[in-house]
Amino acid sequence: MGEIYQNLIGGTWRKADDASENRSPSDITDLIGMFARGGAKDVTEATDAAEIAFPAWSRSNPQVRADLLDRIAAEITRRETEIALMLAREEGKVLPEALAETRRAAHVFRFFAGETLRLKGDAVASVRPDVDVEVTREPLGIVGLITPWNFPIAIPAWKIAPALAYGNCVIFKPAEQTPGSAHLLAQIIHEAGCPAGVFNLVMGRGSVVGEAMTSDPRISGISFTGSVPVGRHLAGTCAANMKKLQMEMGGKNPMIVMDDADLQTAVSVCLNGAFYQTGQRCTASSRLIVQSGIHDAFVAEVEKQLKALKVGHALTEDMQIGPVASESQLNSNLSYVALAAEEGCEVLGGERLNRDTNGFFQAPALFLGSKNSMRSAREEIFGPCASVIRVEDFEEAVSVANDTQFGLSSGICTTNLRNAREFKRRSAAGMVMVNLPTAGVDYHVPFGGRKASSYGSREQGSYAAEFYTSVKTSYTFAG
Ligand code: UN1
Repeated sequence: MGEIYQNLIGGTWRKADDASENRSPSDITDLIGMFARGGAKDVTEATDAAEIAFPAWSRSNPQVRADLLDRIAAEITRRETEIALMLAREEGKVLPEALAETRRAAHVFRFFAGETLRLKGDAVASVRPDVDVEVTREPLGIVGLITPWNFPIAIPAWKIAPALAYGNCVIFKPAEQTPGSAHLLAQIIHEAGCPAGVFNLVMGRGSVVGEAMTSDPRISGISFTGSVPVGRHLAGTCAANMKKLQMEMGGKNPMIVMDDADLQTAVSVCLNGAFYQTGQRCTASSRLIVQSGIHDAFVAEVEKQLKALKVGHALTEDMQIGPVASESQLNSNLSYVALAAEEGCEVLGGERLNRDTNGFFQAPALFLGSKNSMRSAREEIFGPCASVIRVEDFEEAVSVANDTQFGLSSGICTTNLRNAREFKRRSAAGMVMVNLPTAGVDYHVPFGGRKASSYGSREQGSYAAEFYTSVKTSYTFAG
């Protein structure tokens, strides 16, 4: 069967009791490799190693941590083609998207290299004489990082980089569908000179590895990106074990198109937001809320451009939409396409496509005549499907946009400054876009949402310190 890619525990590559196949969703005959499938024992060993490494690492000179993160960033950049090919091959995103994601990961490490030197505290006057008060931030401890398959290198980067920058030790559990990118990143971190035990990779099932991480009392915090049901379960177990928790979950992100929008801008914003990366982004624009005056022209233009989008093997040159990431995800998407039709929508596209290779290809789908009360407009699909909901005016658009259990990202296409300003203020989402897709964010500013989309403090930018550090207030009497 050849080599099995191993877990990294305590600075050495370790065998696990089990292994799983990693196959390309563009071509299921393409076997990428066999990857270790760790168990609870591996989590315990990784935590033992992290416990030994933590005292020295948590007190290390920030320059040491900055230099390490810089070296990791440089190596990601040097190996960007190899990493992007792995991303495209195992996740199914097209090469330009894979390359952009890889570059984003390098930027994240570079940004947090600088952040090691920018961690600030406060010196505050005391209410007692001759007493000084200081507020400082210390590393949280050992953190468990659980990441999804849809951004196999960017999301690990934006959790691992701040964790290491602020002096924490890491147990990293990547999604089972995308261990190849995670393994490459682990190699880079290891070879860049990260001390043994500071960074550990434990690949395996969420129900086994994730569960073991949440129950080990030595792990102080969990940062998770994934589905709402898993998030709810984690929230319960982390609360019972008094663990700090940060989560980023689903979305049903609205994009409003006002009558005064620039039509071409609106069409390209919606196509990008809804269908790029095969719609597999928690920030995808899955509800297009369109004012009646522009509705028909907008739908006609979207339909025309949608039909021209090239769907196929992620590694083919000029491909625009790669396959759905797995068979189970494709089946789920197809059941939502059928549901939207049953609920009374006119469905354009959405069918399974045959290509030269045996992969999980699906035509992008528009659900026309949708109502916000329909299940197809309320539940996250996580595929290339968008509902088009017609509204009469701005007030109705805002109320439909906010009528969802989620609150991650939202957007409006308009040329009217008042509409833009009002929407930014009234949108019940963590991120609001004006004339830009709901997906595709900068790497140096806070990322996260409200309601069922997020839990705990924000990720990315200097806000990441909220999760990865613990505040200490110290008092000194000098009298
Ligand atoms: C982006 O839209 O640039 O899983 C990032 C997701 C999000 C990341 C989105 N956590 O889709």
